[in-house]
Amino acid sequence: MDSQPAAPADVDVLTRAYTDLVGRAPAGVWAAPGRVNLIGEHTDYNDGFVMPFALPQRVTVAAGRRDDDTWRVRSLNGNLTETFDRADLVPGMDGWQAYVAGVVWALDEAGHRVGGADLVLTSDVPIGAGLSSSAALECATLAVLADLDDLVIEPMERAKLARRAENAFVGAPTGQMDQAASTLCEAGNALFFDCRSFDVEQVPLDLAGAGLELLVLDTRTPHALVDSEYAARRQSCEDAAAILGVSALRDVPDLESALAQLDDEVMRRRVRHVVTENQRVLDAAERLRAQDYRGLAPLLDASHASMRDDFEITVPTVDLAVRVATEAGAHGARMTGGGFGGCIIALVDQGRSDAVALAIAEAFEASGYGPPAHFVGVPSAGARRLR
Ligand code: GLA
Repeated sequence: MDSQPAAPADVDVLTRAYTDLVGRAPAGVWAAPGRVNLIGEHTDYNDGFVMPFALPQRVTVAAGRRDDDTWRVRSLNGNLTETFDRADLVPGMDGWQAYVAGVVWALDEAGHRVGGADLVLTSDVPIGAGLSSSAALECATLAVLADLDDLVIEPMERAKLARRAENAFVGAPTGQMDQAASTLCEAGNALFFDCRSFDVEQVPLDLAGAGLELLVLDTRTPHALVDSEYAARRQSCEDAAAILGVSALRDVPDLESALAQLDDEVMRRRVRHVVTENQRVLDAAERLRAQDYRGLAPLLDASHASMRDDFEITVPTVDLAVRVATEAGAHGARMTGGGFGGCIIALVDQGRSDAVALAIAEAFEASGYGPPAHFVGVPSAGARRLR
């Protein structure tokens, strides 16, 4: 069984790698984190509420300006180097470098024409685990390019530009949660985020103070259908909102009468998930404000059941992990992220994460599933310059 992922990148290693590649020291080093979503799944693109926090796992980048319109990006994960210039900035670009190119494109499109740069990066955010490794790359790139060109761009505006890269350049129809989390989260806090008004509230999340911790367990289930299924869920929500005559499912005033207006049973389930999940985020925010951390537990459980039965975005490994976590003493547990695999979170007594993760690993082995990985989720800082 794997435990903690690699320690956050050593800034000196990146600085040396940049210097080897470019022949001089970088102008600086920046980082942007992955995230865990405490609660509020598939609510963001329904103009609803979410409550993520940033992880210590992050994308870290050493970078400096070039005097041409070329971007050279080297990833120390796998020793890959990609180069593109302005003429290559065409939406739909393939490969991991599209997340970097998309940010250049989104900045250009918004009238912030940035110059070429060399970027050397490394990431310890697990990829494909629902922890927003791509948002971390976008938000780190945005921080780099904005600073190198002395652009004054407010944090929420940065998050919106990073999402624009993801939606319009990479082509994934996501909501605003991940880039907002990677940009705006603060150490020690969860981010209560209203995806319509863009209001944010930093809500202290002092689990340790309450004798608790949050286990993050990566089922390592490859999520093959994630893109098409995600888009299908989103479409179904938009279709339902149109039938109900509201601009987004956030505006459904009364769930029962809304359900009575819908003929399609699948659509009814999708609506029920979004409407009840939004309420759970509001309830969770109140409990956090009151430092009633144990009060989160039933909301986590209900959120998971809703994702499993109504939104139908869980898979057998994820459901097994949640069930075994609860049997092994977790107070509450749910899948986190877009779904169809990835991670679960479980609220456990402090020091119990390894034991709960071991119980899940044993259940996985008995079911013929590969070994999961896990760590304790610690609310950490959003995108920033490190040096
Ligand atoms: C992915 C998307 C987010 C959000 C979640 C589900 O992480 O990028 O915008 O929709 O799925 O809550």
